[in-house]
Amino acid sequence: MRFSRELSRISKLDRYVRPEKIEGAIKLDSNENFALDKDFITAVAKSAARRVDLREYPIDELEGLYAKLAKYAGVPQECVSVGSGSDQIIELLLTTLAQKGSRATVFVPTFSYFINRCELHGILVDRVPLDSNFELDAAVFVKRARRADLVYLCSPNNPTGGQIPRRTAEAIIDELDDTLVLVDEAYADFAGYSLAKIAARRHNVIVLRTLSKAFGLAGARVGYMVTNERMAGVFNSTIQSPYPVSTLSLAIAASVLERSAHVKKTIEAVRRERERVAKRLSEVKGIKVYRSDANFLFIEAGRKYHAIAEALAKKEIVVKLLGNVAGHPGCMRVTIGTRRTNSRFLQCVESV
Ligand SMILES: Cc1ncc(COP(=O)(O)O)c(C=O)c1O
Repeated sequence: MRFSRELSRISKLDRYVRPEKIEGAIKLDSNENFALDKDFITAVAKSAARRVDLREYPIDELEGLYAKLAKYAGVPQECVSVGSGSDQIIELLLTTLAQKGSRATVFVPTFSYFINRCELHGILVDRVPLDSNFELDAAVFVKRARRADLVYLCSPNNPTGGQIPRRTAEAIIDELDDTLVLVDEAYADFAGYSLAKIAARRHNVIVLRTLSKAFGLAGARVGYMVTNERMAGVFNSTIQSPYPVSTLSLAIAASVLERSAHVKKTIEAVRRERERVAKRLSEVKGIKVYRSDANFLFIEAGRKYHAIAEALAKKEIVVKLLGNVAGHPGCMRVTIGTRRTNSRFLQCVESV
């Protein structure tokens, strides 16, 4: 039977393993924003809960959020779409704008969810390796991407942290005028620039953003995308389901955006901490730290990897242990947290 053959194919694909939750541990593994106070988010959620009426479907709230996101991103409201996390938007784009046998070009390493979803849907993934410093060779990438139906650029890149230099990203987009270009900017709030305004003007570019990272709302599941008016219109009216995000999450998202000045202050704090932690780590013998424009650092710990992993586990500090990444031994990705948690992490690494 066809469906059992398909189920058997799917059962052999990479699975997403949700990270284990260790009560009381210092959580530096999922790039959430703990520099944003929990009391702040709780107060926002409480006031949102008082305002909404959950007996009703969300009618006006989506439109209201488009307007606030548009203002934040500096684009017209008609260019914005919302989803249940950017994960859901990616899923919808892959299942509607691509099909079995379509070709996607990505550089690697990159956000594994994107590759996994392509594979789930039978989209063929062409992987272009980053160079030994995890930087992108744009000429090589474009040559390969010209054969693709869609291209995925994660910038800043998860897990390596670097944002593609603006001119390079713009040049790649110019070269790929006939291909759908998805630019995943989940971490752009921590970086130097965004391509959102370009996406609003171009016919083939979609920028994916989220409130899960800088805005501290990973649990609320609100992602958004910026693209041209026509594409956003089709997405909102036909591709996206009618009520993809709960009224409560929409109200929380709107409230947090009204307080974006406060969020921006914490983003600045994270950026300062990122530089402090990177500098301290670069002074540790045997450790290499890569350039990051995100709220995490990608570290190559080589022979010290296992000892550091053990020391962190003893102190209940959780980071993303990646092991060998593209021939680089002992890699880990660590989220920038508060000054206190970052210092605990540094002390642990320095003690090995
Ligand atoms: C690059 C990248 N894109 C998208 C996402 C998904 O974010 P969301 O919580 O909006 O689904 C993540 C989350 O880790 C990410 O790292």
